[in-house]
Amino acid sequence: MNTPWSKDSWRNRTGLQMPDYTDAAKLAEVTGRLSTYPPLVFAGEARTLRSRLADVANRKAFLLQGGDCAESFGQFNGDFIRDTFRVMLQMAVVLTFAARVPVVKVGRMAGQFAKPRSSATEKKGDLELPSYRGDIINDLDFNEASRIPDPARMERAYMQSAATLNLLRAFATGGYADLHRVHAWNLDFANGTPEADRYKALADRISGAVDFMTACGVTPESHDTLSTVEFWTSHEALLLEYEEALTRTDSTTGKPVACSGHMIWIGDRTRQLDGAHVEFCRGVQNPVGLKCGPSLEPDDLLRLIDRLNPRNEAGRLTLICRTGAGKVGDHLPGWVRAVEREGRKVVWSCDPMHGNVIKSQSGYKTRPFDKILQEVREFFDVHEAEGTYPGGVHFEMTGQDVTECTGGIAEVTDADLSSRYHTACDPRLNASQALELAFLLAEALEKNVPEPHMQSAIG
Ligand code: TRP
Ligand code: MN
Repeated sequence: MNTPWSKDSWRNRTGLQMPDYTDAAKLAEVTGRLSTYPPLVFAGEARTLRSRLADVANRKAFLLQGGDCAESFGQFNGDFIRDTFRVMLQMAVVLTFAARVPVVKVGRMAGQFAKPRSSATEKKGDLELPSYRGDIINDLDFNEASRIPDPARMERAYMQSAATLNLLRAFATGGYADLHRVHAWNLDFANGTPEADRYKALADRISGAVDFMTACGVTPESHDTLSTVEFWTSHEALLLEYEEALTRTDSTTGKPVACSGHMIWIGDRTRQLDGAHVEFCRGVQNPVGLKCGPSLEPDDLLRLIDRLNPRNEAGRLTLICRTGAGKVGDHLPGWVRAVEREGRKVVWSCDPMHGNVIKSQSGYKTRPFDKILQEVREFFDVHEAEGTYPGGVHFEMTGQDVTECTGGIAEVTDADLSSRYHTACDPRLNASQALELAFLLAEALEKNVPEPHMQSAIG
């Protein structure tokens, strides 16, 4: 398709899952202001992340993408941001150390506000109201006024994203992520769990290695790689009025970039080839993710790949597969074979969360942790059988001590769900479940690691 792209060309297409703003004047006023505000990320950063993801596509790194299902205005504070960041660091350190690969760390943070919904309306008793679509659009309270889409919310989401990103940048480079602090990232409430003990044992070994490096003269002063991390932000590019307002031109390349976050993705519900979301994403230079669910046919996948990455550049496109446990074998081999046959360069990532939502007996929406691990295992198995690279994972977690997903070594039961069920949206992994997932991934990836003496012999 060679129709010219512009940041508003998505407006000529059908956009599913988008609100109907009733107050056009207010909408224009808010997006007008947003388009003059500073970009949240710098275009050069999006380019760097593309090259990091190209390393993943080329089997030289692993992608760890995680964070909240949805950020909210109510749960906005420094401790929550720090705790989510810290779980990401723990997972990354486990993977880096055990699997001996650099880990590309991408948060579902600082912009993850808009939610697609399975139904346009929600009914309670006799009252039927428009569905809640995330704090950037309307309010969760079940009354008529709350559910009216309010453009002013975009501005608030922008401000919250700016503050979140500011703190993340401070943590990433200001000393918090220093490998010397590897023990300090363990969360108190996880103490005594088997994953915490396992983490402590690994942290001891890392401390030893870091002390050795320091004695050799590799100090934080001489090498900031020990004391800092690159940490990237990402969100679903669902609310296109917001994305358009934050699109800027990269002064180096002259090309447009979505400056709302480093990486954006297209949801499984909005990936229509000629739809508004694919149209918007095809024109911006960011790394783009595409959620692939069971209804996606291999031919459609190839058409989407060609639309989103016509020059077949590694790092541009990440396919985030979310079929559900037990169904990976029905879909992933077909996708992988089509992509391999056509020589398309992609990152394969596994989202083991969204295909595994069930309603528990007690009525809570939950995800059984064993299904999550099963989907990850199936994903690795298919790639092993096909000779392709399982490059990453995409998951929903929180640094808080919640009970939202059942199972795990700490055994959250159906009856426990009510005790600390805090999500406004999907059930998330808690810190110890996230760590358990990291150890499972590390074991799966470790298979590719050469023997230690071989490695040093190769140099
Ligand atoms: N800079 C390296 C990296 O990001 C090493 C590193 C420093 C690190 N702090 C870390 C790795 C925290 C994982 C977690 O990989
Ligand atoms: Mn979700």
